[in-house]
Formats: sequence, structure tokens, C-alpha cells
Amino acid sequence: MVSVAIMGHGVVGSGVAEILTTHKQNLFLSIGEEIYVKHILDLRDFPESPLADRFTKDFNDILNDIEVRVVVEVMGGLNPAYDYVKKCLKAGKSVVTSNKELVAAHGAELLAIAKEENVNFLFEASVGGGIPIIRPMNQCLVANIVDEIAGILNGTTNFILTKMIEEGMQFEDALKLAQKLGFAERDPSADIQGHDACRKICILASLAFGKHVYPDAVHTEGITDITLDDVKYAESYGCVIKLIGKVKRLENGMIDIIVAPMLVPEKSQLANIDYEFNGIMVRGDCTGDVVFYGKGAGKLPTASAVVADVVDCCKHLKTRKFLFWADGDGENILPAEKSVSAMYVRVKGDNIIVKAENVFGQITKICRADSSSDETAFVTEEMPYGEFLEKVSKLEKDNVKVLSKIRLGNL
Ligand code: HSE
Repeated sequence: MVSVAIMGHGVVGSGVAEILTTHKQNLFLSIGEEIYVKHILDLRDFPESPLADRFTKDFNDILNDIEVRVVVEVMGGLNPAYDYVKKCLKAGKSVVTSNKELVAAHGAELLAIAKEENVNFLFEASVGGGIPIIRPMNQCLVANIVDEIAGILNGTTNFILTKMIEEGMQFEDALKLAQKLGFAERDPSADIQGHDACRKICILASLAFGKHVYPDAVHTEGITDITLDDVKYAESYGCVIKLIGKVKRLENGMIDIIVAPMLVPEKSQLANIDYEFNGIMVRGDCTGDVVFYGKGAGKLPTASAVVADVVDCCKHLKTRKFLFWADGDGENILPAEKSVSAMYVRVKGDNIIVKAENVFGQITKICRADSSSDETAFVTEEMPYGEFLEKVSKLEKDNVKVLSKIRLGNL
């Protein structure tokens, strides 16, 4: 029997407890031993839970219990998760987490502690919810040099954008629904401002390129400025708008990494990933494109990935699985203003196309039947983002109001 503890009994934590209870027999057949949930840490009471007798409000009950070999951290947030996880690893316990904020902020340090203590620190559920991505990248694709990773990494924003596009639903209503369904973060601004997707692309970039990428170093935009007008112009241009996390290896050893809404061509594999589903494309030099698809948020999909890590820890109590990256200093990250992209621009004013051509040179006007007469949208040629912003300022000085600017995804 392997004793485990679960820290947190929210959406994901209760899912983990549920799967460990309902799938006990299956899991026994996989490991050859029973997984016993000995403690559940939460400040709230859950008298109706079938595991009601295992609840504690005291972290020390877990830390000081030498029988507990694997600890699941599903509290979310940095505090006290960071302190608790560090203490558990230092006490020789393996830790499994779904906490992308924690891994993106402290992954290199926690992996180093796990290595020192010869225990495991696994976080499959931190990216892509129920989609296997960390393990495939760390094992199955390990023979490749990764050239690019691009994905829809946040279920909440994808759910909101899909509801806006398919049903014309208002942003706020779609967000409320995503919260009700348990997709959104406790503070949903992390979802809609792109920070959650940023943490996830940072984790994937750290894993792929071997150096920790910290979220602060990544240019991040959310979806709060996207309007139904942009959605309709994108459609006229044969694209859909998606929040994309993307990292590309450049020839000089640098990486170009970004999180932003992008116009994704309808024929792209990522264009048809809707609602809370996530899709992640990994381009390896040997494999070419490999695409992962599935539910990126929600109780049981995410808990499924957590439980898989628990099983892995139980099977490797005496061995450390090789999952590691070094600390990073941000020097390998291309400054955002040098990142090259074509841009979609929606503008308002008189004589707009002539003025836009004067500033940008060649542009492609997007025709949309039901647009208002003093508004239009166009797509620029590819250029560095810094140069684009300078040209936008020039256009604004020429009495053109820039209403939206969105990258073309090239996906
Ligand atoms: N809030 C996250 C999302 C949960 O919507 O994708 C899963 O990480």
C-alpha cells in the first residue's frame, strides 16, 4: 500500500479524491499496490465526503507523516503552495501538482530539490488539463530538436471566444458560464489577460529548450479587447481568432515566445479547437508536426492527469524519473519588439486606405459586407513588432483611430 496526501479539495482536488476512490481497483491492477488517501488538507469541512475522516487543517499532519510517500498539491496559487511543496520534497516525499503558476515561477528550483532528494516532482496536469503533453515531450519526443510549439492553452478563453463566435454571446456572460463550469481560475483575470496561457507556454518552453523561462520575460496579451467586429473581419479573411501561446527556436539559439490573440487560418489544425478544448502543436525536427488535443480544463480531465502522475510516483518510489531543466536568465529570449509578424489592423477615420498605404506600404484590405462606412480593416506585410508600433503612431498622427491590432498566426 502507498499512502498519499492531497493538499486542496477544490475543483481539481475533489476530482483527484474521486478518481482515486472510484478507480481504486483499476489503479491497483496498474501498480500492484493499493493507493491509500491518508490525508486531505483543506481549511473547509466536507462532512458529506466519503473520505470525511481523512480531512485535516494542519499541513504538519502530512509533512510529519513518514508513511506518506506522495503528496498531491492542487491548492493553486503560490502561497502557501510553494512553501508546502518545497518542504514535502525536502522531507523526501514525491510531489505531484497541477499548479502551473507554481511550476512557471519555481519549476527550476523545485526540480533541483527533487533531484537532490532523489524524489519525483511531476506536473502533467499543469499544461493542457487532461491532455498528455509533458510526458510525451519529455519521453516520446525526446529524440527531436523542438523547432516550435504553438497551442491553445487556456480552456476558459477558448470557451469564451467560441461562445462569442458561434452564438454571438457577450463576453461577460460567457466568462460567468466558464466560471460556473469550473474552467476559470479563482481570479479569472489570469485567464482573460493571458497569464495562465503564459505560464503554460513557459513550462513547455523550459522543458523543450532546457532553461527556465519566467513569465515576466514573455510578451503577454489577453482577449479582453477582442470585439465581435474583429471576429467578423477575421471570418471575412478566412480566419478565426484564438488566444495562442507560441515559442519558436531561432537560428542564433534565441527563442521567440509570445502569448497573444491571433488570426488563425480556418485550415489550420488549431482553428477548429473549440470550447474548453486545448490543442498543442509540437514541431520536432524528426517527427514534423505532432498535435495533441483534448479537454484543457475541468474537474475530471485535469484530475485524470494528476492521478496518472501519482501512479507514476507510486511505480517509481525508489527511482527518480528524469524530468529536469536548468535555471534561466532570460538572455535567450528575443525582445518582443524584434518578433516578426504580419498584423491585422481595424481602423476608423477618413480616407483610411490611402493613409494606411502611405505608412505601411503594401496592405491587404479586408472586405466585410456589413461594416460601418468610416471603418475598415487591413492586413500588413510581415515586420518586427517595434516597427509596426512606430507605423501605428504615424497613422494615428494622421487622424486615423486604431481600434484593434492582432497578429496573424502563421499556424
Ligand atoms: N483556468 C484554466 C483554463 C484551467 O481555463 O485553461 C486549466 O489550467
